[in-house]
Amino acid sequence: MVGGGQLARMTQQAAIALGVRLAVLAARPDDAAAQVIPATTVGDEKAMDDLRIFAKQCDVVTFDHEHVPASHLRGLQAAGVVVRPGPEALIHAQDKGVMRSRLAAAGIPCPRHRIVSDPADVVAFAVELTAGAPPPRDLFGQAAASSPAAGPSGLATPVVLKTTRGGYDGKGVWPVRSADEAAEPFRAGVPVLAEELVDFRRELAAVVARSPSGQAVAYPVVESAQRNGICVEVVAPAPDFPDGLAVEAQRLALAVAAELGVVGVLAVELFETRDGRLLVNELAMRPHNTAHWTIEGAVTSQFENHLRAVLDLPLGSPVAVAPYAVMVNVFGGDPPDMYSAYRHCLSRDPALKIHWYGKEIRPGRKVGHVTVLGEDVNDLRGRARHAADYLRGNIDD
Ligand SMILES: Nc1ncnc2c1ncn2[C@@H]1O[C@H](COP(=O)(O)OP(=O)(O)OP(=O)(O)O)[C@@H](O)[C@H]1O
Ligand SMILES: [Mg+2]
Repeated sequence: MVGGGQLARMTQQAAIALGVRLAVLAARPDDAAAQVIPATTVGDEKAMDDLRIFAKQCDVVTFDHEHVPASHLRGLQAAGVVVRPGPEALIHAQDKGVMRSRLAAAGIPCPRHRIVSDPADVVAFAVELTAGAPPPRDLFGQAAASSPAAGPSGLATPVVLKTTRGGYDGKGVWPVRSADEAAEPFRAGVPVLAEELVDFRRELAAVVARSPSGQAVAYPVVESAQRNGICVEVVAPAPDFPDGLAVEAQRLALAVAAELGVVGVLAVELFETRDGRLLVNELAMRPHNTAHWTIEGAVTSQFENHLRAVLDLPLGSPVAVAPYAVMVNVFGGDPPDMYSAYRHCLSRDPALKIHWYGKEIRPGRKVGHVTVLGEDVNDLRGRARHAADYLRGNIDD
């Protein structure tokens, strides 16, 4: 596995049980996965030589992130290395522009979008969006009539700008209301994708795993909540979600996996619009934060199924083992000593599962997650949120 973060670390738990020898290429010897994986190579995932040396010991190379350049992956393939998912699939998780045009061509529902060249082009795109459409809703907590959109430098409707590459956890994503705000994303000098700002009811994720033989499994569709573009909470399955729509979301994810030839776990991030439609936000081709709940909450975790898939082994059941699972991410707090809070949470709620990534605690950094299973989703939410808040130091007793 290229990348030594928490995803590789959690994959090791599954690898141990399966009897699979997992090796990682980590940037630093103290990375989350490097701490628990003896077969760690420290190297640069962007350096072809490091990748080549690392791959020599591997039957299959897979990833815990999207950052290895496609040209390097093609180079590895040319040298006989088995890369799963392959670069032709992975590009759709690396480049949001490529992903949008491919999915749109395949008839997969996406937000309206196009590549924009400068702030003036963003202004024109916003005008295109409003052609024939009703006036924008109050998306920024302000009355539409008094919003900057009505001002001289305002956009006809708010849009979301995204750098096509390199974004994660909301970095590289800007909701913008004016031509002035639209200047920032162009400063990096990389292509910028503009999208309509979707007035979603909530965000969902449909996670599937697919093997090279074409076997695929779909996990229950989950609701995910983002704060500042970062996933904070996941409820599985998405509450109050009609069965028909859940099946549609699973079919959509399976169709994307087959269409793009994905091998391994594919997470399809979705918007549920207020009028009950599903739109694809983006794709990830690796274990995903929205399926961490599967470690305790499903018969087979996403990490195990990722390994089974990339090794072309039969896949495990994705079925949930409890009516609901709630996962809440733990972020580094201030002050940074979380040990007494950790002891408190273990003792307060013995049914709560804490996952600690072994990362240095820095304010705002994702350092772990908690999961609880049960029947009453409000009770589960309350317990998981309490633990995550307590660990962060947000609760003063
Ligand atoms: N077109 C849109 N309309 C409304 N909100 C959006 C839109 N695109 C993105 N967002 C919001 O911004 C968040 C981050 O966007 P996106 O998932 O594209 O970025 P990312 O930083 O690459 O995320 P990740 O960490 O999942 O890779 C989304 O989860 C959603 O809350
Ligand atoms: Mg995202």
